[in-house]
Amino acid sequence: MSKGSFYITTPIYYPSDNLHIGHAYTTVAADTIARYKRMTGHDTWFLTGSDEHGQKIQRTAKAKGIQPKEYVDQIVAGFKHLWKTLEVSYDDFIRTTEDRHKKVVRDIFVRLHEQGDIYKSEYEGWYCTPCETFWTERQVEGNMCPDCGRPVELVKEESYFFKMSKYADRLLKHIEDHPGFIQPVSRRNEMVNFIKQGLDDLCVTRTTFNWGIPVPFDPKHVIYVWFDALTNYYSALAGGRSDNSLVSKYWPCDVHLVGKDIVRFHTIIWPIILMAAGIELPQSVVGHGWLLLEGGKMSKSKGNVVDPLILVDKYGVDAIRYYLLRELPFGADGYYSEDALIQRINSDLANDLGNLVSRSIAMVEKYFAGEVRHPAENDALDHDLIKTAGEVIEEYTQLMEKFELSNALAAVWRLVSRANKYIDETAPWILARDEGKAARLGTVLYNLLETIRVITIMVSPFMPLLPARIWEQTGLADCKEVKSWDSLQKWGGYPAGTIVKRGLTLFPRIEIENRHSGEKIVQDNTEEESGHISIEEFARLDLRLAEIVKAEKVEKADKLLKLEVAMGDEHRTLVAGIAKHYSPEGLVGKKIIIVANLKPTKLRGILSEGMILAASTGENLGILTVDPEKDVPSGSKVK
Ligand code: MSP
Repeated sequence: MSKGSFYITTPIYYPSDNLHIGHAYTTVAADTIARYKRMTGHDTWFLTGSDEHGQKIQRTAKAKGIQPKEYVDQIVAGFKHLWKTLEVSYDDFIRTTEDRHKKVVRDIFVRLHEQGDIYKSEYEGWYCTPCETFWTERQVEGNMCPDCGRPVELVKEESYFFKMSKYADRLLKHIEDHPGFIQPVSRRNEMVNFIKQGLDDLCVTRTTFNWGIPVPFDPKHVIYVWFDALTNYYSALAGGRSDNSLVSKYWPCDVHLVGKDIVRFHTIIWPIILMAAGIELPQSVVGHGWLLLEGGKMSKSKGNVVDPLILVDKYGVDAIRYYLLRELPFGADGYYSEDALIQRINSDLANDLGNLVSRSIAMVEKYFAGEVRHPAENDALDHDLIKTAGEVIEEYTQLMEKFELSNALAAVWRLVSRANKYIDETAPWILARDEGKAARLGTVLYNLLETIRVITIMVSPFMPLLPARIWEQTGLADCKEVKSWDSLQKWGGYPAGTIVKRGLTLFPRIEIENRHSGEKIVQDNTEEESGHISIEEFARLDLRLAEIVKAEKVEKADKLLKLEVAMGDEHRTLVAGIAKHYSPEGLVGKKIIIVANLKPTKLRGILSEGMILAASTGENLGILTVDPEKDVPSGSKVK
């Protein structure tokens, strides 16, 4: 059953150039919220589009020697391709050059003129073409735009004005009465201060260029591009239809998600247009922070624009979306770097989530021929895991409802870590040694598969392609109910008796050198120079406690011993250069520490599948072992 409607929008982007990773952030964030709302049973409408009029676009097209419409058509095709690549699930894409939009803008403009809220006068002041913004004398310092820092131009022309000042008090009252109208609170305070300084009437037409919507009763004027653009949120529902069904279903809009730089337009100009036109105001305008580079803003002129298409090609769409949404705290700025992106992929996705899935599935295959058994009685460890899952679902829901996407992901990763720890605590490989513990082993593996199910549902709005890959491996590809949001209300939705099947690695680790293939290696050496490594680098080593079960000399090699070691029920062969320090007989039964994920290599024709750790000064050598008073089982992880 639908839980009511939900309407969310992104800003409509200027097709003056291709979009970069900062624009992608806004749209991917809105898409994640839309997907979450759909998943949780809301009748959702998600709008994006392009803001195609204005002086900036006209000048850009002219510089390329083509007509504005021809120019924007090409760029807008690129927007749509980018959104498809990023799995953006919009319901409608509005272009301000469409008739359905232009008609609604004209109607509102005429209505405001007829009721005396728009009047003719003369504008003399400053204009920033890149931002398409008017500024007064006292706002521009040194003839620079206070928003973007670029030069402003002096404009003097006949214009129509919109009586913003008339509505200032009503707007302030609305903001006061609706604490959620501007989010986060810091942006709300900024806007309240701005309005309290007094609002000037807004110039809403231009005459010195013609790439816009002509004023119907005075066609030498075109309507100011922000008046035109903001109306898209309403025209997309109201325009070009024979009935009013979309407006009655989705208006007022629930969320306009915008970057912090355009909050002012959305929380002052737009609500006043709506008030004057007698249309209900949106529920909320949510202003997010900016994705910055170490050197400051991304810009074409600095040549530091990061192309999302290239990144998706290199790292995959799920990884890019995860990174963007995890890295930027709600409402605040964040820094983009490719190294940080790789770090996230390797630690959060490959190491934490990827390993949880692959280890769990590998164990079900190994111990129960792929069948997930019915759980028996849960013990204290199980209860703790189940409790964490319940808490995380609750926390995730609260954070998603507040659009705190990064924090919601952090909450899910608390469960991912808890589940990985559960594997270490329950040590299934030890349970597997004792037939009498099969029921316990079955319970542990069931709980892991159930946890993976819960995690997969929660990450699905963020990483749209990942769930299908996990469902394939966990045997749930064809089960509908157990993948639904509602199924999270009760622990135990994973159907026992399901057969799992190991698949491709979900997130292969990225080797830092590979990504620079063919290029000069540009790497931050500060870590290396300090001699420090990160915890993620250390975590790459799979150190294990192993018990020596057999030892013998290697023929014609006086330094080498061939060892057979057990790690849980897994046996491996190792060739170690310790023959001068240990006799084979004395080694059997010793518990040693080995590097278990070292690439296997042949020594004297014997495949060595790991490396034994020892401390030595050259002359003296002692192998590393664990505290003999503690009965730590072989196979345990050393960390
Ligand atoms: N056309 C107007 C919006 C009209 S909405 C009625 C516009 N377009 S834009 O293409 O310049 O920017 C669109 C959005 O992208 C804005 O919300 C802006 O904040 C966002 N971003 C642009 N660069 C960004 C980053 N580096 N980081 C995050 N968001 C960024 O403004």
